[in-house]
Amino acid sequence: MTKILTIVSGKGGVGKSTTTINLGMALNEYGKSVAIVDANITTPNIGIYLGVPTVPITLHHVLQGKNKIMDATYKHSSGVKVIPGDISFSSLDGLDLENLDDALLDLEGLVDYVLIDGAPGLGEEAAKAISVADGVIIVTNPEMPAVTDALKAAKLVNELRKPVTGLVINRFKRDGMDMSVHEIEKILEYPVIGAIEEDKNVRESIFLKNALYLTHPDSEGSKNFKRLAAKILDIPYRERKIKSLTFFERFNGFFNRIIGDKK
Ligand SMILES: Nc1ncnc2c1ncn2[C@@H]1O[C@H](COP(=O)(O)OP(=O)(O)OP(=O)(O)O)[C@@H](O)[C@H]1O
Ligand SMILES: [Mg+2]
Repeated sequence: MTKILTIVSGKGGVGKSTTTINLGMALNEYGKSVAIVDANITTPNIGIYLGVPTVPITLHHVLQGKNKIMDATYKHSSGVKVIPGDISFSSLDGLDLENLDDALLDLEGLVDYVLIDGAPGLGEEAAKAISVADGVIIVTNPEMPAVTDALKAAKLVNELRKPVTGLVINRFKRDGMDMSVHEIEKILEYPVIGAIEEDKNVRESIFLKNALYLTHPDSEGSKNFKRLAAKILDIPYRERKIKSLTFFERFNGFFNRIIGDKK
């Protein structure tokens, strides 16, 4: 059975896309089949992070009723399937968010996990992404402004009667100035299922246009994402056997094979 997990935050820029991509790679390494959907409709960036900003058919075409989701599904070199958005401004014309429900039905049974990268804020786009979820992961930074917005996100998830899978604290630093896990759990009243450290390699992975989990498999951030995946799968965390990637494997591992392009 396919499980849909939506990643939201309230506050923008806290690490939803980074979490979606790297959690997807970690679940994939644990042998689960994964599809990542970029439901940040107005400002999609999964394709940009993974090295292909534009593809012929996107989630926008699907939401416009022009294509099926399989037509917009691409395969990353890792094996993770990716449904990117369209970065052009005009792509918002004639788009109906309600088409997301039917589109996701087409993925049912094809993958173990669908990870939906939600939009910042708590508007229509974020609400739609929450409404289709089997579980919601709320990402925050360990700072009061982000935690305050995460609290609003949690309220919206409750209003939409969806379960919160847990909290992910991203960009954790060990300088004594962050809010603690305990403080954040107390405010948000949900368990922290992942703490991802501030990792300078994230920046390099963006430069390399690939997931941190693949470009820097032995980094602290990658280990943290693997722990998060193990927690979600409810299995013991194992240290990774590191396989070094070649330069070309590290760089821009995106979309080796288009699944849905019928041409
Ligand atoms: N653990 C981390 N360590 C260092 N930098 C990070 C980490 N996580 C994310 N970043 C950086 O923070 C920025 C925002 O990350 P990301 O795009 O994942 O956030 P977002 O919540 O998806 O943003 P938006 O709300 O705009 O969609 C990026 O520049 C990213 O490289
Ligand atoms: Mg994002």
